[in-house]
Amino acid sequence: MLHADIEKALNDQINAELFSSYLYYAMAAYFEATGIPGAANWMRIQTQEELVHVSKYFEYIVDRGGRVALGAVAAPPSQWRSPLAAFEAALAHERLISARIHKIADLAVKHRDHGTHNFLQWFISEQIEEEKTAEDVVQKLKLAGKDGAGLFMIDRELATRVFTPPAAGA
Ligand code: FEO
Repeated sequence: MLHADIEKALNDQINAELFSSYLYYAMAAYFEATGIPGAANWMRIQTQEELVHVSKYFEYIVDRGGRVALGAVAAPPSQWRSPLAAFEAALAHERLISARIHKIADLAVKHRDHGTHNFLQWFISEQIEEEKTAEDVVQKLKLAGKDGAGLFMIDRELATRVFTPPAAGA
């Protein structure tokens, strides 16, 4: 049985992951509107990854006999100053998500809930990857600066990202 505080924290995390998915969809729309299709593809893939995260929390709460409770999802911004600003916002958001997950892990330790603590380890590793992939793009965009040819090359690379569903049981 899940402690009420943990059940609430996990439900809040479902909301945060849904917002993440919404945020990246908004960024995909922004990149489509500004004629940067590779970055739009990258963000669409990110949206799909977030929905996988949502589903993992959902199933875990159910498996532990908890109650999934869905709240309103906030509207994301729709505009960024530049491609770099959008990816910097994505990186800042991922850092925020990592911090949230660490807080839930702390709560699990406090309540001696080893099952939840173990469940969260996948997310803790995943966040290292999430931050790294966003940071890589930020660094490349910083290097390119206002160089149109550089941006074009980066966009071509971002266009190659594909969605890989996690292996069963992962
Ligand atoms: Fe679900 Fe991008 O963290």
